[in-house]
Amino acid sequence: MMPEHWLFAYEGFEPRQEKLREALCTLGNGYFATRGAAPEARADELHYPGTYLAGGYNRLKTELAGRVIENEDLVNQPNWLPLTFRMDGGDWFNVSTVKVRAYRQVLDMARGLLLRTVSFEDAQGRRTRLEQRRFVHMRHKHLAGQELVLVPENWSGPVQVRSALDGQVLNGGVARYQQLSNRHLRLVMAKEVDAETLLLEVETVQSRLGVAEAARTRLYLDGHRAEAQGKFVQDEGYLAHEFTVEVKAHQRLSVEKVVALYTSKDPAVSEAAMEARREVQRAPGRFEELVATHVQAWTHLWNRSDLDLELAKPNGTHRALRLHIFHLLQTVSPHTLDQDAGVPARGWHGEAYRGHIFWDELFIFPFLNLRLPALTRALLRYRYRRLGRAREEAHEAGFRGAMFPWQSGSDGSEESPRLHLNPRSGRWLPDETWLQRHINAAVAYNVWQYYQATADSEFLYFHGAELLLELARFWASVAEWNPRLRRYEIKKVMGPDEYHTGYPDQPEPGLNNNSYTNLMAVWVLCKGLEVLRLLPDERREELQEVLGLEPSELAHWEDVSRKMRLVFHEDGVLSQFEGYEQLQEFDWEGYRARYHDIQRLDRILEAEGDSPNRYKLSKQADVLMLFYLLSAEELQELFERLGYPFSQEMIPRTVDYYLQRTSHGSTLSGVVHAWVLARSDRPRSWQLFTEALQSDISDVQGGTTQEGIHLGAMAGTVDLMQRAYTGIEVRGDMLHFNPHLPEGMRRLKFSLRYRKHLMDVEITPRALVLTSRWRFQTPLKVAVRGACHLLQPSETRRFPLAQEPSTEAHEGEGASP
Ligand code: BGC
Repeated sequence: MMPEHWLFAYEGFEPRQEKLREALCTLGNGYFATRGAAPEARADELHYPGTYLAGGYNRLKTELAGRVIENEDLVNQPNWLPLTFRMDGGDWFNVSTVKVRAYRQVLDMARGLLLRTVSFEDAQGRRTRLEQRRFVHMRHKHLAGQELVLVPENWSGPVQVRSALDGQVLNGGVARYQQLSNRHLRLVMAKEVDAETLLLEVETVQSRLGVAEAARTRLYLDGHRAEAQGKFVQDEGYLAHEFTVEVKAHQRLSVEKVVALYTSKDPAVSEAAMEARREVQRAPGRFEELVATHVQAWTHLWNRSDLDLELAKPNGTHRALRLHIFHLLQTVSPHTLDQDAGVPARGWHGEAYRGHIFWDELFIFPFLNLRLPALTRALLRYRYRRLGRAREEAHEAGFRGAMFPWQSGSDGSEESPRLHLNPRSGRWLPDETWLQRHINAAVAYNVWQYYQATADSEFLYFHGAELLLELARFWASVAEWNPRLRRYEIKKVMGPDEYHTGYPDQPEPGLNNNSYTNLMAVWVLCKGLEVLRLLPDERREELQEVLGLEPSELAHWEDVSRKMRLVFHEDGVLSQFEGYEQLQEFDWEGYRARYHDIQRLDRILEAEGDSPNRYKLSKQADVLMLFYLLSAEELQELFERLGYPFSQEMIPRTVDYYLQRTSHGSTLSGVVHAWVLARSDRPRSWQLFTEALQSDISDVQGGTTQEGIHLGAMAGTVDLMQRAYTGIEVRGDMLHFNPHLPEGMRRLKFSLRYRKHLMDVEITPRALVLTSRWRFQTPLKVAVRGACHLLQPSETRRFPLAQEPSTEAHEGEGASP
């Protein structure tokens, strides 16, 4: 039996929970993903089967509110799941119309399997047991499979089994998008290949992405191939095999369906339909063999990615963390290395945000950097391949360098919608979120962090440096000189807090001098200058030539990086943006009493004819993002560079100020706040962490998870455990540890990659134990609570933690930093 914290289980059939379960039980392998819908389900009130390809987008136009708008959507691909049955010509199985005697659905995270067992009795008193298993193969990325076992408990007779491929699907997973065009696929071909094999080929109507699915279905009775008569059935885009087989009481009828999926964009293939057909035909004969190789691939992935923990009072924390890692690895996996896809905010688990790529990778890469850094590199290459488009975006907006869009999909164009629906008021409203230029600091930050964690100088040489330089150039060109203040300013942008889109008294959207944006712009400029110092001469000269980087431009960067404006409140708190201090205080208590759930204050206020722009309130961390991304030392350096006073004491005051004024309308918010409080207020940090951990599992936003998981929050919570509570930092060519386990945690164990090293980390309240696992490496420099040590290859070293840092400084043969 698999230990409970590896299983994510639901007991009983709850119709109203089905769509949420489908999202959370999605199976994927980084190449494609399929929601955990029941195999007999079709899209309706209760269910939404969905299959999505990583980066599988298509554009459609819609006429709405008198304008034509165009959206690029993540396309729902033909449903390969349908596998159902009926007894003796009766009704096809429907869990809602039979008497359910037992029902359990389990996501087995260790093995990457979705399991469902159902015992039921029909109107004729026939009792039947069903056992279902499903995988989306983690090693053979084109393959997926399902098994249905049916055991008659008190009857014998003929059973009809139907196994289908359904190309009649639409994009209908998000209620708010229902007025938008949703027919993305056109049928290319549907045919029966042989008595057990079906083949379906479709194409997206605009991006011309060809997708082929082949399905092979075999039946077994008590383990032996069953003689079943197959009948081919088809309807426009829907094709099925129906088999009839005689089953006796207590016999096991197993149906094994193996599916292959290929696209016209796959590398190393000739033609998608041909490949799909060939792959199902040569797939191993029995389901079990495919399960074995799939499980092996998952075991290897878990060895690299797991977090093992021991709590004084075991609760759901461990399981939730594993669920988060599991969904992250299903969205991005080693298969991502060969793909042109970014990391989507909502996973490939649903249609929310149309599978678009935002800044959320900022919360996702830190985990990957220390576990599977090759994935970060592949995902940064998604950005690099769109550098040309980002240059055009900057140019079109009147700037220099490269400007990545707030939302992107296939080609790196700005895909943010210009209108969004407030379901509370029913009004379509202008969407100004594209003004979040700060994504261009996130991309630079991600390049730099990846480099710090890996020292991958080849990446920096060929791709990273160019990205950093073009982003630095962008920020320098965005900054406007204010001769009166003798400072540079950044105007007409939005910070991460999406509730503030502009000034209450001004028709044009945009805010001036958002502290997060301004300070991160300075940070990017500093890194742009630093990377030029790091590059070997020949590459620096090449890049300067290619980009036309003149010394005068670099001098300008230097100047902007020293004279950027920051706005403070009268009491020294860093202002979210210029003018924030003049806004009205918000009646938090009144609104909480009236609405109970006030996460989405934007919708509430708009429906009342009011606007969040008038108040001191935030959807999510904005100023506080600075404390999340930068250490106190880095902040101090930046403040000093700009000639602003900095005091450590200002940090908790600022945290307190904004925490009181945040509604946590984004799941990212809890992660950031838990992080910034990790040292100063452990109980509150733990509470926010636990809430963030539950946000998808309990669907705290009331209905959003069913449209796709929140991957930033999922990865962010795992990263909190990995870095915040361990104090791991990659800085100054050293790996730093400063553990501070949450109350009640007895042990935390994981392995990590740092540069060329691989090591095991074990932390208890009393000690940190590091084991170097790479035998042939040079020693590794680590700093434990500020004291530097050399860890030799294959060495295990214990660092006591219970004492004060000063007494520990002499632990081991410490080398100086
Ligand atoms: C948040 C953004 C985030 C986006 C996608 C929004 O609700 O405000 O910060 O990037 O969701 O996850």
